[in-house]
Amino acid sequence: MRAHEAGAMHGDIGDRGPGWLRPPADVNALVPQLWPRQVERGAGGALTVAGLDVRELAAGYGTPAYVLDEDDLRSRARDFRDAFPDVDVYYAGKAFLCRAVVRMIAEEGLHLDVCSGGELATALSAGMPAERIGFHGNNKSVAELTRALDAGVGRIILDSFTEIDRLTALARERGVRPGVLIRVTVGVEAHTHEFIATAHEDQKFGFSLAGGAAAAAAFTVIDEGVLDLRGLHSHIGSQIFDTSGFEVSARRVLALQAQIRDARGVELPELDLGGGFGIAYTTQDDPSPPAELAKRLRKIVDSECAAENLAVPHLSIEPGRAIVGPAVFTLYEVGTVKDVDGLRTYVSVDGGMSDNIRTALYDASYSATLAGRASTAEPLLARVVGKHCESGDIVVKDEFLPADVQPGDLVAVPGTGAYCRSMASNYNHVPRPPVVAVRDGRARLIVRRETEEDLLALDVG
Ligand SMILES: Cc1ncc(COP(=O)(O)O)c(C=O)c1O
Repeated sequence: MRAHEAGAMHGDIGDRGPGWLRPPADVNALVPQLWPRQVERGAGGALTVAGLDVRELAAGYGTPAYVLDEDDLRSRARDFRDAFPDVDVYYAGKAFLCRAVVRMIAEEGLHLDVCSGGELATALSAGMPAERIGFHGNNKSVAELTRALDAGVGRIILDSFTEIDRLTALARERGVRPGVLIRVTVGVEAHTHEFIATAHEDQKFGFSLAGGAAAAAAFTVIDEGVLDLRGLHSHIGSQIFDTSGFEVSARRVLALQAQIRDARGVELPELDLGGGFGIAYTTQDDPSPPAELAKRLRKIVDSECAAENLAVPHLSIEPGRAIVGPAVFTLYEVGTVKDVDGLRTYVSVDGGMSDNIRTALYDASYSATLAGRASTAEPLLARVVGKHCESGDIVVKDEFLPADVQPGDLVAVPGTGAYCRSMASNYNHVPRPPVVAVRDGRARLIVRRETEEDLLALDVG
């Protein structure tokens, strides 16, 4: 059940957790697919990441803190690059972006997607080659488009007729011919193991395929001849484990590609299938390795192209979560433990919805473990909650923690690399946590903690 604005009376007080969550045989054991590759429980019982003890990290950087296993992120980026050797892999920066991550992504040979002037500025300031940047967004301003053109961004993903007019005028003024894709809304919405395919596309992004807007957009760009139309783009959802949604979207978007060829004699050379590849947040999630995804996507595109008698276009994909999500865990300190009449135990940590809004926003599931020590106590079904003034301020809805969990303990929540720091807020004037990258036994700050001065710095008067 979703957390409710009205408060706890609307919550699912007293349940025993989801059916799949069973008391673990060993409450100290880590489920490997949930954790960065170099996290283990050290001999002393505390977690270590790339050889560093989390107690040291907590002492040095404070809590809460996002801890990034740098080699894990890099290896996931490489896994995608190697699995898709002739495909441009755009890391979706919205998942998490800072200058150090831009550099890691660039060094591993990936491209980068941005979707705002701020993300673009971050990418450029960290030295990402502009031609390897793609620029998304359903409402890019004239200033943002101007900046992208002046920087020489490799491709701009067109999202509306207004934007086509804006960009065409700006490109004409400058005498440039930017590469563009058309974002097609294909009527496929995919999430985990299900997808819905509809004939209508009721959402703010992109040009409707069924309504004819996508074809009209392509014809407008081709007929004007100012922008360099490289191809079509579709993105169908997030946390996807099953590729059948991609099959329907590829079929639809390639049918449009054939329609454009038949009407204008132009075969667009590129196709972007978007991102959305799922990761494991709990034991219920079973993501496919990139090599497997690559095989399936390639097969889908090959057979749909053959059906439409099209040459196979140069492909690109845009994974965000699958690269950064599993590489990070959040380290918290427990402040209070409250047992409600034997119904539920609330373990309050020193962060919450300001550093991870996904549980409250999307009803997302996470897992957690006692991080600073091992325990011999029995597993206890607990709810990990934050310190914010909101009943829906839940980090982990249900998890078995040792029954002796107590104030001062460290708790770690894995899978927080994507859409946590990037969606973090200052709700209740809580400073946003730092991001600490660990590699070869050494830690370095890549985003510092906000301070009280930061919080006050914007107040005028
Ligand atoms: C156009 C586009 N591409 C890529 C992504 C990245 O998705 P994910 O992080 O789930 O891979 C998103 C996410 O919203 C998106 O909107």
